[in-house]
Amino acid sequence: MSGHEHEAETVLWTPEHPEAVRWAPDGSGVDLLDQTQLPELTIWRRCRSADEVADAIRRLQVRGAPAIGIAAAYALALEVAQATSLPPAALLQALRAAAGVLRQARPTAVNLAWAVDRVAAVAETALAQGTEAAAWRAWDEADRIHEEDRAMCRRIGEHALTLFPEPEDRPLRIMTICNAGALATGGMGTALAPVYLAHGAGRALRVWALETRPLLQGSRLTAWELSRAGVPVTVIADSVAADVMARGEVDLVITGADRIAANGDAANKVGSYALAVLARYHGIPFYVAAPSSTVDMATPDGASIPIEERGADEVRRGFGRLTSPEEVPVWAPAFDVVPGRLISAIVTDRGVIRPPLGRGIAEVYG
Ligand code: MRU
Repeated sequence: MSGHEHEAETVLWTPEHPEAVRWAPDGSGVDLLDQTQLPELTIWRRCRSADEVADAIRRLQVRGAPAIGIAAAYALALEVAQATSLPPAALLQALRAAAGVLRQARPTAVNLAWAVDRVAAVAETALAQGTEAAAWRAWDEADRIHEEDRAMCRRIGEHALTLFPEPEDRPLRIMTICNAGALATGGMGTALAPVYLAHGAGRALRVWALETRPLLQGSRLTAWELSRAGVPVTVIADSVAADVMARGEVDLVITGADRIAANGDAANKVGSYALAVLARYHGIPFYVAAPSSTVDMATPDGASIPIEERGADEVRRGFGRLTSPEEVPVWAPAFDVVPGRLISAIVTDRGVIRPPLGRGIAEVYG
């Protein structure tokens, strides 16, 4: 439970949503629900250092832009808490080293560096009051980041609901890629937040979850969390999306984002660009939902977003056996960029931003 929870007035999270990150109850580490094991196994990994959390982030045991930021924030707080017996200068050195390792764990989601920098800044300032003060402020800031994310998820959901068409005499059909749900955040998710809210309000809906090659976050994670919440969900191979759209079985597409550039281009799980092209061709709205911490005004456009490249074996041995000849090169980007002109609206906790996106983003975040 979060120390700031009493400030919340609306329900931000309920036990139906799986938690991705927890501060260990005894303060000895950061607990991560190991998402590489889902849906087969529900295993928690206790990380006892910033290095271990960085390792878990690289392995995608915790993944999703907001969740890796929260995990890294707690990791840095842990590192400071473990260094309180050191002289302040040595603590500062440890803090900066850990912050560097965490920031570099994955390059695309701006939430990671954003969260690390927030915790580092307050801890450094508090160090003037002593090492214990630095530790307390670092933990408090990490917990705030966690709790703020919960609140942002809820607001994203409320704003995104305004984009859902009026109920008809059939379920609303929503398509999504990867996992932008509770597992990817500190709350009920971003793209999945309006799904949970609509479902909770009794609206009939159905979700098409793209399996999301190569690591199957859609079929392993989105399908898992939606089905355990009772939301009807159907998994399709990524290549089936066009056919489902052509059959008229999709009312809207909504995805998360790892970084939204100032001009409205949005990096998200590889395959998102193809999905946006398909949606435009079929006249289906394509929405991007993300918290304010994903908006990066320092990145002018999608071409400037660093795109993570994953190891070849995630494609070559994705199913635990050889699925591509050993000698053939594999290129495995983790993300692609959806150009802003293919996005019907961006939904953040601050509201709905419609095209022209660059202007709308500047008005809200400039
Ligand atoms: O590689 P992943 O699983 O971390 O990719 C995650 C995504 O692409 C999500 O859509 C994005 O981080 C938004 S999560 C709310």
